[in-house]
Amino acid sequence: MLLNLILSVVSFFIQETVSKYLPNNSCKNYIDYYFINTSKNCYYNSEFFEQTAKIIEKHIGFSETYNVTTEDGYILTLFRIPRQRPKGVAILQHPVTTDSIVWVGQSNESLAFLLWSFGYDIWLPNHRGTYFSRKHVNLTTSDAKFWDFSFHEIGLFDYKTIIDFVKMKTGSKIVFISHSMSTTASLIYSSLRPKEAKDSVKVFISMSPVCYLKHVRSPVKYLAYFTPYLKMINTLLHITHLYEYDSPLMQTLRLLMLELPFKYLATVMISLFQGWTPQEFDPAFINLSISHHPRSYSWKIFYHYVQQYLSGGRFQMYDYGPNINKKIYGSLIPPEYPIEKIITPTYLIYSKHDSIATSEDSELLYDKLNEKAKVYGKLEIKNINHVDFHYGKHRKEKVFHEIIKLLKLIEHNF
Ligand SMILES: *[C@@H]1O[C@H](CO)[C@@H](O)[C@H](O)[C@H]1NC(C)=O
Ligand SMILES: *[C@@H]1O[C@H](CO)[C@@H](O)[C@H](O)[C@H]1NC(C)=O
Ligand SMILES: *[C@@H]1O[C@H](CO)[C@@H](O)[C@H](O)[C@H]1NC(C)=O
Ligand SMILES: *[C@@H]1O[C@H](CO)[C@@H](O)[C@H](O)[C@H]1NC(C)=O
Ligand SMILES: *[C@@H]1O[C@H](CO)[C@@H](O)[C@H](O)[C@H]1NC(C)=O
Ligand SMILES: *[C@@H]1O[C@H](CO)[C@@H](O)[C@H](O)[C@H]1NC(C)=O
Repeated sequence: MLLNLILSVVSFFIQETVSKYLPNNSCKNYIDYYFINTSKNCYYNSEFFEQTAKIIEKHIGFSETYNVTTEDGYILTLFRIPRQRPKGVAILQHPVTTDSIVWVGQSNESLAFLLWSFGYDIWLPNHRGTYFSRKHVNLTTSDAKFWDFSFHEIGLFDYKTIIDFVKMKTGSKIVFISHSMSTTASLIYSSLRPKEAKDSVKVFISMSPVCYLKHVRSPVKYLAYFTPYLKMINTLLHITHLYEYDSPLMQTLRLLMLELPFKYLATVMISLFQGWTPQEFDPAFINLSISHHPRSYSWKIFYHYVQQYLSGGRFQMYDYGPNINKKIYGSLIPPEYPIEKIITPTYLIYSKHDSIATSEDSELLYDKLNEKAKVYGKLEIKNINHVDFHYGKHRKEKVFHEIIKLLKLIEHNF
């Protein structure tokens, strides 16, 4: 105990001293970045390029790692911030182009740490194909077959394995928190495996739910019309996935983006496509989030979303073309996912100013849900765009505290 205390005091002072001599990499305002070496609003953040487990250990002191294998052979890594006699067990399931890093990537003000401090046992899985989940029993990442998956397989196989494993380890029903693509995949899990979901999950908390794509405002939608060409080029060049985080190309791009003026170019692109608003995005995280991203994903995920968008409001399975569809699904067009079969409580948190998961589309989803899934209702918030759920200045009051409010309500209902 005492030794631990002494060690942490010593390491604190070493860090404080070391950081004085390291070049500043973060600033509180955009403008300060121009004076990063002199402004008193700038500082050194040691979590640049660090990975999930190490960041957890820095803030909490300990973490656990598990590997699990899905029915179709993918080996996934799960990180855990364990807690003795927890109030509950939560899985924080990350969206696309990122991985578990997104739940710990805002230093001491990350959702994973907040919920852990609130008393939860926290599980942070990484879906197939991301930095920590690149192993398969038979395939390697150089096999095209490895990357032949969309959010369909992530929901149907990864989430089943993850949820079963966490339930087995903890003996407790799970609070499953997701954002963006992981909401899509969790709807697939809970609609195709309704009974299993009901037995294992207490509530799905879905932030920025992406299901029907009728009202997307982000210009990312225009990419849909270029997708046939993109697909052609990808097929020709055998490109199956976005380059991996540690690939030389991504490392170079990342370093370029961290320097002026590339960062501002990157900022403009990301804000256009991914949905973030410069006034809301916290400038303190701009360099930091670039240092952690992007994580690889299969292009099939992107194609599948484009199909949903072009279908004009269907939440449907992957479209392989009429001939193959007939063989796989028994129909020329792919079937829709049976949203009405979901019987696990599903709480939607969506924002009026989200340019990807719009209020209109979230309400379409809510209307389709079974009454059993709607027991906790829904919540519309404002002035938060798609990625602001993670990196917005007001994410704590607008999102995180609302999650805690709901968890308190659910505890009292038991
Ligand atoms: C962070 O941003 C500044 C200014 O844009 C840049 O000069 C610096 O290299 C970045 N820091 C790191 C560690 O990349
Ligand atoms: C970092 O910023 C501080 C102000 O917060 C400044 O005093 C210091 O000189 C800067 N350090 C470096 C290495 O740029
Ligand atoms: C700040 O200092 C670093 C390291 O000394 C240097 O590489 C960088 O160009 C400086 N940045 C600015 C914006 O002056
Ligand atoms: C999990 O798998 C990774 C890579 O496949 C390996 O490096 C790590 O040691 C494994 N961890 C455990 C706890 O089995
Ligand atoms: C892996 O390969 C073995 C031998 O060919 C096969 O029996 C097994 O089904 C494969 N496993 C998966 C998950 O594809
Ligand atoms: C996080 O750390 C900063 C800087 O050390 C501090 O000002 C802030 O209060 C901390 N936040 C939490 C939630 O602990």
